[in-house]
Amino acid sequence: MPSTPSPTDRPRPPRTAAVIPAAGRGVRLGPGAPKALRVLGGTPMLIHAIRAMAASRAVSLVVVVAPPDGAPEVKHLLDEHALPEHTDYLVVPGGETRQESVRLGLEALPEDVAVVLVHDAARPLVPVDTVDAVASAVRDGAPAVVPALPLADTVKEVEPAGTPGEPEPVLATPVRARLRAVQTPQGFDRDTLVRAHAEVAVDGEGATDDAGMVERLGAPVVVVPGHEEAFKVTRPLDLVLAEAVLARRRANDGF
Ligand code: CTP
Ligand code: MG
Repeated sequence: MPSTPSPTDRPRPPRTAAVIPAAGRGVRLGPGAPKALRVLGGTPMLIHAIRAMAASRAVSLVVVVAPPDGAPEVKHLLDEHALPEHTDYLVVPGGETRQESVRLGLEALPEDVAVVLVHDAARPLVPVDTVDAVASAVRDGAPAVVPALPLADTVKEVEPAGTPGEPEPVLATPVRARLRAVQTPQGFDRDTLVRAHAEVAVDGEGATDDAGMVERLGAPVVVVPGHEEAFKVTRPLDLVLAEAVLARRRANDGF
């Protein structure tokens, strides 16, 4: 009879973790609490984002990157709100730029994590199907996977004006059908993303897109369909849209 390895010496399968950068101030949203802590439908945006990641059966660990001095407050929030029990949670303080915050989140990952999803706290309403689709594309072998949507607006490249409000000369009009607006969660082979963060220096405001950093390594990046409800809460009107999406969900779920 073949001997069965005991639970302690059986190698554990590689895990998928979600890193949630939530350390931004939310300047474009206007004065108030840090954006991730603003409330939507009575619940902080960050809690919605954590629940969206933990809802995916692929995700067994969520690392929240809190505002630099806000880690105790975020830990308290996690204790206060019901979260799925099959998932582990870690909170680490973030940095001055999103790029630094993501790197600090990556540094907190345990060794057995092989796949990483990076998800903006500012995209609280991403559906679980989008999370699952990204995670499974990475598990199937793509080193970097980005959910994205075709654009509604035509885009122009301009020479930015020195003074806000001044007319700006148009340089080019890319063919709209070839453009995609990218969302999160973006999914990565862990080693590829760690290498990108080690090699791409923080320049000014830093990179706002992890996949772009992986592109600079020369590694292949693919796009999969994103979702309208994965929009980023950036400006005040986005809060109105987010509340409307939540109200529609509540009406559809009948609670
Ligand atoms: N983020 C972060 N650390 C930073 C800056 C941003 O973790 N130093 C996070 C934000 O909390 C957000 C995500 O990165 O979840 C996307 O950034 P963005 O939408 O630009 O959020 P903010 O930087 O908070 O907003 P703003 O740029 O308007 O200040
Ligand atoms: Mg920002």
